[in-house]
Amino acid sequence: MRISVIGCGYLGAVHAACMAELGHDVVGIDVDERKIAELQAGRGPFFEPGLPEVLTRAQATGRLRFSTDLADARDATVHFVAVGTPQTKGSFNADLTYVNAAVDGLLPHLKSGDLVVGKSTVPVGTAARLAGVIEAAGSGATLAWNPEFLREGFAVKDTLTPDRFVYGVSGGEQTDEGAKAAAILDEIYAKALATGTPRIVTDYATAELVKVSANAFLATKISFINAMAEVAEATGADVTQLADAIGHDARIGRKFLNAGLGFGGGCLPKDIRAFRARGDELGLTDTLSFLGEVDAINLRRRERVVTLTRELVGDLQGATIGVLGLAFKPNSDDVRDSPALDVVQKLQAAGATVVAFDPEANETAQRSVPGLTTAASAAEAYSGADAVLVLTEWQEFRDLDPATVAAAVNHKRVVDGRNCLDAAAWRAAGFEVRGLGRP
Ligand code: UDX
Repeated sequence: MRISVIGCGYLGAVHAACMAELGHDVVGIDVDERKIAELQAGRGPFFEPGLPEVLTRAQATGRLRFSTDLADARDATVHFVAVGTPQTKGSFNADLTYVNAAVDGLLPHLKSGDLVVGKSTVPVGTAARLAGVIEAAGSGATLAWNPEFLREGFAVKDTLTPDRFVYGVSGGEQTDEGAKAAAILDEIYAKALATGTPRIVTDYATAELVKVSANAFLATKISFINAMAEVAEATGADVTQLADAIGHDARIGRKFLNAGLGFGGGCLPKDIRAFRARGDELGLTDTLSFLGEVDAINLRRRERVVTLTRELVGDLQGATIGVLGLAFKPNSDDVRDSPALDVVQKLQAAGATVVAFDPEANETAQRSVPGLTTAASAAEAYSGADAVLVLTEWQEFRDLDPATVAAAVNHKRVVDGRNCLDAAAWRAAGFEVRGLGRP
């Protein structure tokens, strides 16, 4: 099929490359010339394992092109909208400027039979409104909403072999228009569907809600275990053992029960806030108010790391802190709403000198926090430190040899913000160790 993908960020770039990998003819379009140049050169504009390989392979077949001109979408019959829906400055609402602009920009290029497919995460009700915009333009094109559940760091795998497909189509699958849209999406995803991937065809509102409720559930699961970490801190219990024990119950499951610094990134924090804001508009303030607690628990973990550091070093003023990890999670260079970066800024505000290292996110962090001192290696970050903080659980930090670190630091103190270190081994090397929710 001939496909255009509007928006080549974390979602769209991967989607474009993977659609070409599935055998389709794809043009990826973005207004950002730097991003398009990077993609044309076969590099991702961000760090994502496996993406450069897929890009290079797809471009070699001639099935994948990139452009800054929306008019290049006109030869395609399916148009994925994969632009960002960030949090609006000064409020919790999702900013729909880019989604609206993408659909408006596509209108002059749409033909009868074309399908516009929304992938961006949007407040419930957006798809129905956009379907009206497309219909009013009179091209005969229609709209489907096909939310994306990819995780950064696993984006290629999650796109090619997702856990499920969700199609939101006009009136559901029973209508002619809905059935046609579902058939087009089936053709696009034929390879993954052939392996038995579940597919749910539903209406627009359900499809939009599947995405936001999945993220709300994941965020709630993390904040639940982080609330238990607070209880563990007050009682001397160990939250990691607690998580292992309750996780053995198949109804609960061990995944997403890692207590620590909490969730960040470009999705979970802004999505739960936008969901609450949409709930307010729908008269459902009480229904979704628990998401305010989920957010608050999450943000308290950042304060807790600062408190633990202060307890270890005494006065933060003038202390030198070696920070390991800046990205919101490992295998990503993304620092959007990164808990690690927030902790760094809180430490700096308290007068500490921070030297930070992340294997991939030094540059993105510096762009976000100008003047941040980054080191070229973990060893450079922890050398001479009064305390070492592990804030993103990269494998290379898990693998650090405590004796080697001990020989380089000024004081043997470590705060494990992700409960990813072998505390006993670090204690054996002479370190005072603090974790989150751990005795
Ligand atoms: C998330 C959803 O998982 C994905 O389905 C959706 O499409 C986009 O949002 P992503 O933001 O890439 O994906 O990261 P994810 O792996 O979900 O982690 C989110 C945050 O939660 C990270 O900051 C991570 O460190 C944190 N987390 C995750 C925990 O603190 N504890 C856990 O047990 C799991």
